[in-house]
Amino acid sequence: MELSLERLTKQYDNKIIVDRIEFKLNEGIYGLLGENGAGKTTLIRMICGVLSPTSGEVKVDDKNNLDMGEDFRDMIGYLPQDFGYYPDFTAKEFMLYIASLKGLIPRYAKEKSQELLEMVGLSGVVNKKIRTFSGGMKQRLGFAQTLLNDPKILILDEPTAGLDPKERVRFRNLISEFSKEKIVILSTHIVSDVEHIADKILILKKGNLILEGSVEAVTSKIEDKVWKCVVNKNEVDYMAGKYCLANIHHSGGVATLRIISDTKPHDNACNLRPTLEDLYLYCFNEVL
Ligand SMILES: Nc1ncnc2c1ncn2[C@@H]1O[C@H](COP(=O)(O)OP(=O)(O)OP(=O)(O)O)[C@@H](O)[C@H]1O
Ligand SMILES: [Mg+2]
Repeated sequence: MELSLERLTKQYDNKIIVDRIEFKLNEGIYGLLGENGAGKTTLIRMICGVLSPTSGEVKVDDKNNLDMGEDFRDMIGYLPQDFGYYPDFTAKEFMLYIASLKGLIPRYAKEKSQELLEMVGLSGVVNKKIRTFSGGMKQRLGFAQTLLNDPKILILDEPTAGLDPKERVRFRNLISEFSKEKIVILSTHIVSDVEHIADKILILKKGNLILEGSVEAVTSKIEDKVWKCVVNKNEVDYMAGKYCLANIHHSGGVATLRIISDTKPHDNACNLRPTLEDLYLYCFNEVL
C-alpha cells in the first residue's frame, strides 16, 4: 500500500500553513519532527481526512482519501493531539464506545477491546474511570483505541507529550510492537521518541518538508558541523552568544561544549558524531 501526498497545501487567510508537500509513504514508522507551529497537526489532519486541503490531495493507492469515505476511515487509526477522554467512562466503556463509532460488531468489539487493553497494560483497571488514570495510562488507552479497527495507517500526534521517561519508553515500545505491516506517522518534538524506532525521519519547518530520510541519512547532513571543545568557564557566555550550544558541561574551571556550527568554533575543537538532536537544533536554531 502506498499513501501519497500530492502538492498538499493548507492556507488560512493569507497564511500558508502546509506548503505543497509532495511525499510517498509505505509500510514503516515515520517520525515527523518540527517545532511548535510547524504545521504537523494541520498536515496530519489532512492525511486523516478530517481537514480538507486548500489544494493538492492525499491518495491511497491512487484513490483520493476524501472520495474513499468509509473505506478510508476503516483503514485509519488516529490519536489526535488533543484527544478527549470522557473522564466518567471506564476504560472498557470508552473502548466499546469508540468501537461502536467505528462500526465494529458488538461481540467482536468486546473481544478486541479486552485484548487491546491487555496489550497496553490496562487489563487491571478496565472498570476504573478514566478520571483516575495517570497521563501515561490515558495515552496508552488512546493508543489502544486507534487499533480497534486494525488500521493499516496509524497516525499519532504527539502521543508522548507530558509523559515521564518510563512511560515514554513504554509507549515507544508499544508503537514499535504494533507497527508491523502498517504505515505509522508519529509526530513529536521529542527527538528520542523517534530516534531509535523510526525508519524515516521527516522534518517539517514552516509548512515545508525540509529533510527526509533514515536517521543515518539525515544526520549525515551535518557530519562535519558538530564539535566538541573545551574552554575556560569565563569564555562560555561569549561562545553561547556566537554559537548554537547543544550542551555545556562544567567541571573544575573548564567547560566542555557541544557546538553546532558550519565552521570550526575554536582552536581546540574537534568533530563529534552528530545525533538527531543535533540535527534538530541545526534545523531550528535561529543563530545559524
Ligand atoms: N484553524 C486555523 N485557523 C488559522 N490558523 C491556524 C488554524 N489551525 C492552525 N493554524 C495555524 O497553523 C500553524 C500550524 O499549526 P499546527 O497546529 O499545525 O502546528 P504544529 O506543528 O502541530 O504545532 P505544535 O507542535 O504546537 O502542536 C500555527 O501557526 C497555527 O496558529
Ligand atoms: Mg500539533
